[in-house]
This record gives sequence, structure tokens and C-alpha cells, in this order.
Amino acid sequence: MIGEMEGATDVLRVTELSKSYGGLKAMDGVSFSVKRGEVMALVGDNGAGKSTLVKALSGAQPPDSGQIESHGQPIELRTPRDADAAGIGCIHQSLGLVDALNVPENVFLGRELQRKRFGFLPELDHASMREKTVELLERFGVNLSTLNTPVVKLSGGQRQSIAISRLLLQDVRLVIMDEPMAALGLDEGKRVMQLVSNMRDQGISIFIISHNLEHVFQIADRIAVLKNGRLVDVVETAKTTRDAVIKMITFGSVH
Ligand SMILES: Nc1ncnc2c1ncn2[C@@H]1O[C@H](COP(=O)(O)OP(=O)(O)O)[C@@H](O)[C@H]1O
Ligand SMILES: [Mg+2]
Repeated sequence: MIGEMEGATDVLRVTELSKSYGGLKAMDGVSFSVKRGEVMALVGDNGAGKSTLVKALSGAQPPDSGQIESHGQPIELRTPRDADAAGIGCIHQSLGLVDALNVPENVFLGRELQRKRFGFLPELDHASMREKTVELLERFGVNLSTLNTPVVKLSGGQRQSIAISRLLLQDVRLVIMDEPMAALGLDEGKRVMQLVSNMRDQGISIFIISHNLEHVFQIADRIAVLKNGRLVDVVETAKTTRDAVIKMITFGSVH
């Protein structure tokens, strides 16, 4: 299905998305689109509605109202499975890895490859999973020398790469990342930024939430600013300044 929609340029288009918690409008008439191979950053103060928007896009918590389209086709995102089917993958801060399992086991978690021993006895195909994992990591420029170690022993940036590899195993067209660099050191953060840029080079779109405006200005093609559940504006990174974005975050306008 995704293949047939290749023509349309917007990987995602949302129109008038709203979500209330009791009397509070956490997301209020939000509309924007994400193009193919674009990195869009989402910024805003605490409570601006960023997580509410991400939950709507990842199928974790459907909005009260509004439309979502992928490649020009209306889609419903009621569950994470719906998002999967639409080629939308989400990396939450928790990453969702199993600490005790090694790298290929995590990449293939829940989608393990099998083979038939003696032609009939099903067993896990560790060799193929390992080979595919190496292929994926190489394709996206990730350097991991230790595939057999339990992932709990790997660094934050390496764990991040594994979580992303899990998504790339599927035909993902949009990767949503919730504060991916927040818990990482400087070098690790740079490596994740490199990974984001490698994904973009391969035509994957990225929607990235970050508090770090330095990272945002380095990596994003466009910046969406949320305040009090409303979209202040979507601006091209090359045509704005950090001061202007800070003003939008704080006051809801540049003036
Ligand atoms: N499950 C919930 N129940 C009640 N209020 C919520 C819930 N989730 C978020 N909110 C409120 O919705 C608003 C937006 O929250 P959120 O989307 O988490 O913002 P952000 O991620 O930008 O910090 C906040 O005022 C928050 O307190
Ligand atoms: Mg949040």
C-alpha cells in the first residue's frame, strides 16, 4: 500500500488535531505537514502539548478530532499497530529495548526469523538475524563492534541506534523521536544526529522533539513551535534565528 502512495510528497499531513483532558485543551486545532526526506523539529515549553501530539501520531492516544493523511490518503491511527502499518515509527525516551537480550535479538524482537532444521523443525535463524542486523547498521552508518553483548552494557547512543534499527527493519517512512539526545553526552548526541542525517539521506522523514535549540538548528529543515496546545508557526530553519524561535516558544510570536 505504501508503494502505491509514493507519488504524493507529504509523508504526513495533519489537519485541525485537537485533544482535551477534562476542561484543558492540550492540543488545539493543530495543522501542518511533513515532507518526504525532511527533518522537522517540534519545540515548545513544558505543557505545550508536544507529547500529546506525538501520542496522536504514534497511535498511542487518538485525538478527539481532526484528520491525519499519509501520502494524500486519510488514515486512522487508533493503535501503534495502525501507525506501523502507515510506515510511522516512534522512538520513545524509554527506547523499549530488552536489557538482557543482545543486539540482533532486540532488533528482531517480536519479529524473529525462523528456519526449518532438517527441513521441518522450526528454530530461530540466528545467523540470518545477525547478518540482517549488520546490514542495517552498516546502511545507516552505525558502528557497533559488540553484537553479542546484552544491550544493557551498551552506551545510550548505541542503544538509541538499536531502537532505530528496529524501526528500519520495517518499511518506515517517518520516524518520530521524543527527546532523543536528552540523556546523551556530547559525542553520543552527535552520533544520533549523524544517524538522523543518514536516515534523511535515504528518504526517511524525521519528526524530532528537542529542547536543545543548538541541535535543532543543526539538524532540522523546519521547526514547528507549539504553545498552550496551539501551533504558533512552522518556520524554515534557514530563514529564522534562535532568538525568534525562543520568542515564539515564550510569547507565542516573534514580536
Ligand atoms: N493524561 C493527562 N491527563 C490530564 N492532563 C494531561 C494529560 N497528559 C497531558 N496533560 C496536560 O496536557 C498539557 C499538554 O501536555 P503534554 O502534551 O505532555 O506537553 P509537553 O509534552 O509539551 O510537555 C499539559 O497541560 C498537561 O498537564
Ligand atoms: Mg512531553
